[in-house]
Amino acid sequence: MILITGSTGQLGQELVKLCQERGIAFRAVARPAFDFEQPESVAACFATAKPDLVINAAAYTAVDKAETDQDAARAGNHTGPLQLAQLCEAANIPFIHVSTDYVFDGAKGAPYVESDPTNPTGVYGTTKRDGEAAILNNTTAKAIILRTAWVYAAHGKNFARTMLGAARRFPTLRVVADQRGTPTAAPDLAQAILAIAARLQQTGWRPQYHGIFHATGSGETTWHGFATAIFAEAAASQKPPEVQPITTADWPTPARRPADSRLDCAKLTQVFGITLPPWRTSLGPIVQQLLTLDPPG
Ligand SMILES: NC(=O)c1ccc[n+]([C@@H]2O[C@H](COP(=O)([O-])OP(=O)(O)OC[C@H]3O[C@@H](n4cnc5c(N)ncnc54)[C@H](OP(=O)(O)O)[C@@H]3O)[C@@H](O)[C@H]2O)c1
Repeated sequence: MILITGSTGQLGQELVKLCQERGIAFRAVARPAFDFEQPESVAACFATAKPDLVINAAAYTAVDKAETDQDAARAGNHTGPLQLAQLCEAANIPFIHVSTDYVFDGAKGAPYVESDPTNPTGVYGTTKRDGEAAILNNTTAKAIILRTAWVYAAHGKNFARTMLGAARRFPTLRVVADQRGTPTAAPDLAQAILAIAARLQQTGWRPQYHGIFHATGSGETTWHGFATAIFAEAAASQKPPEVQPITTADWPTPARRPADSRLDCAKLTQVFGITLPPWRTSLGPIVQQLLTLDPPG
């Protein structure tokens, strides 16, 4: 039995869908029944589920709002996940947790490896980094932490949906062209996580599974490149807008983002034999779903 937390989120929904399609036993929990701000709700959900594995897809993900909502961000990304890891430690079951490229400051100038020093530039990244550290340093949980980036899906709030909606209202969009990274399709990340779960079941726990792994789509782009690709995929349904490249300085936000948060995902391939697909390949089907199933407003 897999306990999936944050089942209303982008990743959580994809995990639930895949488990249903594959007949994998799972229990999905979300707010208000499972709320990191209510520790007793976390303990109660865990006790009811009696899981063999926990996949934590719950997190405080509002990067800009976190700057002024620090207590909620800390509960969602640090103290809550730590509590979940402690429950897994006590039950001696593996814990798969998800973290972010925003633990880095983006100044390396090359793809980050897992052992690179972290230096988050905002509250979101800081609380995610503190969550990682607490799980690994303050528990002996069998923890696998997957750092991902630029997550999008056919549902939920994400860059692809925002861009398609904006293009219906404006003929010209200005999009930041000096932040590099890699979009990650939530279905691809969910597949990778369930492949890890299958591996755990096959081999039992092995020491090399413990720790941090980078897990993004393959390749790289900028937000401007991502936007342009989204509109290319949508061109048959909606007229592409003009996408003007701008700098980060032209688009001030409450939280500072890393300029180059590309992640080197070789360790995931070496240890688990998993490589996420090229980001550009995964984009088309999701854009089509966004346009048909859940038309952006
Ligand atoms: N989205 C990205 O671009 C991105 C980038 C890098 C890493 N990540 C990481 O990837 C993981 C999955 O992200 P996502 O895009 O699927 O996020 P998402 O769509 O924002 O979903 C987050 C989920 O967490 C739940 N949640 C929020 N606060 C909670 C709390 N206090 N207690 C319990 N549940 C809470 C949300 O519930 P409600 O529906 O009630 O709000 C939702 O189910 C997260 O760990 C995130 O940090 C995401």
